[in-house]
Amino acid sequence: MKVLVIGKTGQLGRALSALTTNVDMQFADRGVADLSFPENIDDALAPFEFDVLVNAAAYTAVDAAETNAETARIVNADAVEKMARHCADRGALFIHISTDYVFDGSRPVPAREDDPTSPIGVYGITKNAGEIAVRKHCPNHIILRTSWLYAAHGRNFLNTMLRLAETRPELQVVFDQTGTPTCTADLAKAIETIILKYTVSPTDFPAGTYHFANEGVASWYDFACAIFELSGMRTIVQPVESYAFPTAAKRPSYSVLNKQKIKDTFGIEIKHWRHALRDCLTERNTTHE
Ligand SMILES: NC(=O)c1ccc[n+]([C@@H]2O[C@H](COP(=O)([O-])OP(=O)(O)OC[C@H]3O[C@@H](n4cnc5c(N)ncnc54)[C@H](OP(=O)(O)O)[C@@H]3O)[C@@H](O)[C@H]2O)c1
Repeated sequence: MKVLVIGKTGQLGRALSALTTNVDMQFADRGVADLSFPENIDDALAPFEFDVLVNAAAYTAVDAAETNAETARIVNADAVEKMARHCADRGALFIHISTDYVFDGSRPVPAREDDPTSPIGVYGITKNAGEIAVRKHCPNHIILRTSWLYAAHGRNFLNTMLRLAETRPELQVVFDQTGTPTCTADLAKAIETIILKYTVSPTDFPAGTYHFANEGVASWYDFACAIFELSGMRTIVQPVESYAFPTAAKRPSYSVLNKQKIKDTFGIEIKHWRHALRDCLTERNTTHE
């Protein structure tokens, strides 16, 4: 079973390439497959031999998407449709990563896979359009929604907090947005589990939409406090409301995913977000030395 991953340089792409696994994975970056040009995708994918395509690439700049809506739509929806059609033509499984931002976050209960979507920003709208295209054009798919991704490397909340704390003894962080921080290493392992299941039973495979995030619930304020506590730092974190940091894009205020379906279907055990954070900080300390 051969796997091709699009998005080699992103947080998730790097976590997938760091897996110790027997899965035969190849990786493509923007130089190989530029999703800004969906018309070239068939030609870009043609030279690769694969049974599973994992799309870990996306236009992920949530605020910039508000003013670059066309680019976000091309990358997150048009290119995704092309990949879905390509997989269907080839008979490959398409694993596409999506987001909690397809929901508006107005209900204070963890979202289930079949809850109606209603994104409130351009990024979420384009990711939702990508999901619709996958369902329409490639029945043999996994749409994996996740939330609040971070990793030991890359641009993310964890590394932003640690960088800011180098020069500031006190930080203000919003406490009125709730979600679940998710370490890319754990998401990568969940993807590996899904691929291994497909390897064993490709004809009897539970395709569809799934949610994966680490366990538990936190505000960004809670996440920041845990980062400094587990890093042994004395940085003071002050809770503030979102209006203190106006952003171009509105964010869901309650963005928690219900993960029962992926646990029941694939037997995936999920770490609590604090344990995942602790493990990620250990990895970060090891690799930054
Ligand atoms: N980050 C989060 O908090 C979060 C939350 C929920 C869901 N997700 C979803 O999870 C997935 C992985 O996110 P991530 O955080 O790992 O993303 P990321 O670190 O922002 O990386 C994005 C990846 O997409 C690639 N990419 C962007 N535009 C491209 C284009 N036009 N052509 C080819 N490649 C392109 C980037 O390549 P370059 O390096 O060349 O730019 C990079 O490899 C995405 O589907 C995202 O929507 C993310």
